[in-house]
Amino acid sequence: MLWRDCCGYLTQFASTATRLTIFSLAIFLPLLSLPWIDPAISPSLGNCICSPMERFWGGNGISGNKNMVKQLQHCGVFSSERVAEVMEKIDRGCFVTDGTPPYIDSPMTIGYNVTISAPHMHAMCLQLLEPNLQPGMHALDVGSGTGYLTACFAIMVGNQGRAVGVEHIPELVNFSVKNIQKSEAASLMEEGSLSIHVGDGREGWPEFAPYDAIHVGAAAKEIPQALIDQLKPGGRMVIPVGNVFQDLKVVEKNSDGTLSIRNETAVRYVPLTSRDAQLRGS
Ligand SMILES: *[C@@H]1O[C@H](CO)[C@@H](O)[C@H](O)[C@H]1NC(C)=O
Ligand SMILES: *[C@@H]1O[C@H](CO)[C@@H](O)[C@H](O)[C@H]1NC(C)=O
Ligand SMILES: *[C@@H]1O[C@H](CO)[C@@H](O)[C@H](O)[C@H]1NC(C)=O
Repeated sequence: MLWRDCCGYLTQFASTATRLTIFSLAIFLPLLSLPWIDPAISPSLGNCICSPMERFWGGNGISGNKNMVKQLQHCGVFSSERVAEVMEKIDRGCFVTDGTPPYIDSPMTIGYNVTISAPHMHAMCLQLLEPNLQPGMHALDVGSGTGYLTACFAIMVGNQGRAVGVEHIPELVNFSVKNIQKSEAASLMEEGSLSIHVGDGREGWPEFAPYDAIHVGAAAKEIPQALIDQLKPGGRMVIPVGNVFQDLKVVEKNSDGTLSIRNETAVRYVPLTSRDAQLRGS
């Protein structure tokens, strides 16, 4: 109960009033210099607002990762056993830059004006996509950044499936490849069922389309048509859409090719944009 209260999860708010409150909190808390919201790392509103002690999940290496997963599950962020399994297997500690605490429920900067999402956002996206991450399925991760989610997808779809990351910053592609090599997904990358490509994620990655699952890790103004085209009938895409106010949308392609779209929750991601605009920070 304590955890549920402390996390109170911001990720579940829906009404505009709540959203405005949260938004002002996110704007003003950093101004008050509260130690536990670092403006440099708060592009996501979907943070677990807990006290510093409660947000710091102790333990190093795999035990720290395991505690993190347990707490997220305890908070009610996700319930799927498959999600717990893959998050325990893929150590978030392999995917952050040196000196960054990996097991705090907060997005962390990884350079190039990019962040690794907070663990609870990863958990939520994995749970939303879980039915479409069965063994043998194809998954696309747009804006794959550190490679964390791509690695999780690869484990879930297995060596008969395909997990594809697309990232437009070449240095980050190299970073993610190194991260994955340290992780439990290393052999899948070696065998070829996991791959990361330099490219403009708005164009997807046609080579391995159609995809059962598509995840977009940056907010688009509208859903890119190429991604809709590359979604398989019966497939599901999770994508943040909007500017300042963003909705995490769940897009399903029906068997007749029509789309069903719903808003899952309000979020705040960095924009899905060109490489130049991103490096300029505009
Ligand atoms: C990425 O790694 C490849 C192979 O190791 C190397 O050739 C390339 O220069 C690297 N790119 C960047 C931008 O660091
Ligand atoms: C999702 O939220 C937006 C506003 O953020 C709204 O315009 C839209 O109608 C909502 N879509 C659905 C399917 O509820
Ligand atoms: C990030 O964006 C800011 C503007 O907000 C820009 O000044 C800076 O150069 C960018 N940083 C990187 C590493 O591209």
